[in-house]
Amino acid sequence: MSWHETLDSTSVEAARIGAGGLIEPQWIAARHQTAGRGRLGRKWVSDTGNLYTTALFPITELSADIAALSLSVGLAVRDSVIELSQGRVIPGLKWPNDVRVDEAKLCGILLESGTSNETHERWMSVGIGLNVRTAPEIDAYRTASIIGLAPDIDIAPEDALVVLEGYFRKRLAQILEQGRESIIADWMDATDQKNSQYRAQVGRGHFQGEFAGLDEYGHLRLRSASGEVKTITAGDVELVKEGFLDASRN
Ligand code: BTN
Repeated sequence: MSWHETLDSTSVEAARIGAGGLIEPQWIAARHQTAGRGRLGRKWVSDTGNLYTTALFPITELSADIAALSLSVGLAVRDSVIELSQGRVIPGLKWPNDVRVDEAKLCGILLESGTSNETHERWMSVGIGLNVRTAPEIDAYRTASIIGLAPDIDIAPEDALVVLEGYFRKRLAQILEQGRESIIADWMDATDQKNSQYRAQVGRGHFQGEFAGLDEYGHLRLRSASGEVKTITAGDVELVKEGFLDASRN
């Protein structure tokens, strides 16, 4: 694990290392990021006190297990939060890999991949931003932190990374030893998404439907009011609030 006082972004640092080639599996962590990045080009607020880390590793190909890998990272973060909070915070998972408590976001996960310009080796990175001590105010969604939910516990980001690294290894071993169906089954037990309406971007349009589980790869399935089921493989999925449903009928 390499800890930095400040970085622009641990995921940008991982991409720089990946571009150079000869990639060793490694964790890059920073106490503060000046240009933290979220999914879909969003910014990730990165004040001191939370965990900002990226796991970088070489890959031979982007296999069909990529969706299961994404789910397993969410599960590893959830496992870690339960241990770090001594069982007081039990998060729910939202596809593809948000970790939430009462629909407030506790952690964001950013998967990226690339190829070295020098050696043509492929790499993959998993960026994890876990709200340990503070819950930044974001316009688009509500946020929470572990210590905000369990104020009598103190957790240093360094300790959070040690716990996270252990669960990350365990969940990766689970995919290899028990297959992606075992990860998908655990994710289904841990999701807080059941019985709600979601809207996902499909091509240039949107598809709205209720949560209808995951397919055998770990992609999301939504069922529309007319019974059509669509499989969503990437992108953001937003909860459709009651008010939004009413407004869309007018
Ligand atoms: C999301 O938008 O939900 C994903 C956020 C991922 C944030 C983490 S913090 C560590 C790593 N470095 C970054 O710049 N982003 C990821």
